[in-house]
Amino acid sequence: MTSGWRGNGNGNTGITYNSDGVSFNASGDDIGAVTDIAAPIQLEDAIITMVVNVSSEFKASGANLQPFAQIKGGSWAGEWNCWAGNELFTAGTDVTITCTVAEADKKFDQTASDVQIGVQAKTSPTGVVTIKSVTVTLKQSASSSSSVASSSATSVYSANVNSLRELATFPIGAAVSNTDSPTYNILTNASEKTVVEKHFDQMTAGNIMKMSYLQPTQGNFSFTNADAFVDYAVSKNINIHGHALLWHSDYQVPGFMKNWSGSAADFITAVETHVSTIVDHYEAKGGVVSWDVVNEALNDNSPSNFRTDSAFYTKSGNSAVYIEKAFQAARAANPNVTLYYNDYNIDQNNAKTTKLVEMLTDFQARSIPIDGVGFQMHVFMDYPSIASISAAMKKVVDKGLKVKITELDVAVNNPYSGGWPGSKISTFTQDVALTQKKRYCEIVKAYLDTVPANLRGGITVWGTTDASTWLTTATSQYNGEAIAWPLLFDNNYNDKPALRGFADALQGNTCTNL
Ligand code: XIL
Repeated sequence: MTSGWRGNGNGNTGITYNSDGVSFNASGDDIGAVTDIAAPIQLEDAIITMVVNVSSEFKASGANLQPFAQIKGGSWAGEWNCWAGNELFTAGTDVTITCTVAEADKKFDQTASDVQIGVQAKTSPTGVVTIKSVTVTLKQSASSSSSVASSSATSVYSANVNSLRELATFPIGAAVSNTDSPTYNILTNASEKTVVEKHFDQMTAGNIMKMSYLQPTQGNFSFTNADAFVDYAVSKNINIHGHALLWHSDYQVPGFMKNWSGSAADFITAVETHVSTIVDHYEAKGGVVSWDVVNEALNDNSPSNFRTDSAFYTKSGNSAVYIEKAFQAARAANPNVTLYYNDYNIDQNNAKTTKLVEMLTDFQARSIPIDGVGFQMHVFMDYPSIASISAAMKKVVDKGLKVKITELDVAVNNPYSGGWPGSKISTFTQDVALTQKKRYCEIVKAYLDTVPANLRGGITVWGTTDASTWLTTATSQYNGEAIAWPLLFDNNYNDKPALRGFADALQGNTCTNL
């Protein structure tokens, strides 16, 4: 379990997530960990089943555990009769404990109030307790088992979405890894395969089709890993959005380009060779239906202009001419593949969007081939506004160009907000999950409302599970803290409410946080 829990009890030092589940320091009576179940729910006669594992110190302290269910919001109404005595535990060994919610006074009113369920330590405890999974089995019927927002293999939220891809007439994509991430490798991770094959009909390589992966040294193209990735996709009836032929980001511009000392004209030729060799290769191979030809060539200034801190710009003789040359080379290599310019913040930085539109207008006036614009959309729960997103997409639609959401993720925390870090959300609660569900729905709805069917290039999410998001890395805006929870699936590949929100929009349902 990796989200949806918090510490409970006076003096609690909080909870920690780890590879086994969620742990707390049992440093005193009534200290424990809880997770929320949103109203309305009827827990009467429900059975809470927990798998727990205690440290040797806890065992030696002779302390006990008390699983419980409690109305949230100041009331002590709840089930307090359950008990798991110390004799049940062996240090370091998983033990299943249960609690039937059958309190004598039946004071629960779960129609109006949320409930928290959890476990607390009793009788002068010390040591560490780890909760590995929790299941709540409701009395009514087997099918109505719990909808706890926290994640575990056995206690899951179901978004009731058979297949996201079947709900849309345009591509529904996910960014996935191959050799760039051994853990989340689509070719070897069975859970990754299952979720991708179920919900997506397009894949983007998170990294391995970027420049330095495909042409690490001049003239030496290495297609092996990317080809395996494409082969897998095609075998599963999934197509590929190619990403990205040119991107300035330092870590993956090949050294020979970064250190170019030849003429600008020869540099442009090298750019064209890179683009045409790759587009040719995948035209022959099949499976790649579109390309981000140039990624992030505009800066974030006001007024915005072409990025001058890019090797492409400087080595082209301090000129943005490499952009149009890349589009021309891509079109010459494959007349049928869809060509995108891709960037971030163009949904929120008006100056940047203005510069983008200026470039599009110029390209169209000079017949530079371009089919659409990729909106990365690494966004937050409250920013940018839907109005801003729609207005920006409309500007591209008004040019007759396609709009593709290429890298969607909705981070729960916004480190650029005024209140940061005081506003930091440290626990992915049910409330947060449902707010995110609504936000996903509103973004997809804005896309549908703004972009006519013939210009919809599709929507791609930048990753599958919250565990695999790029926003947890040490260099991310969260300094390595895993507090973005930005994707559609939790760390264990369970549905999140966000998946329901995405589907709601595709199905024309109202966007709600319920
Ligand atoms: C990110 C990948 O997800 C990371 O694994 C990598 O370390 C850095 O790049 N915009 C883009 C993507 O266009 O290529 C970036 O992908 C995320 C931001």
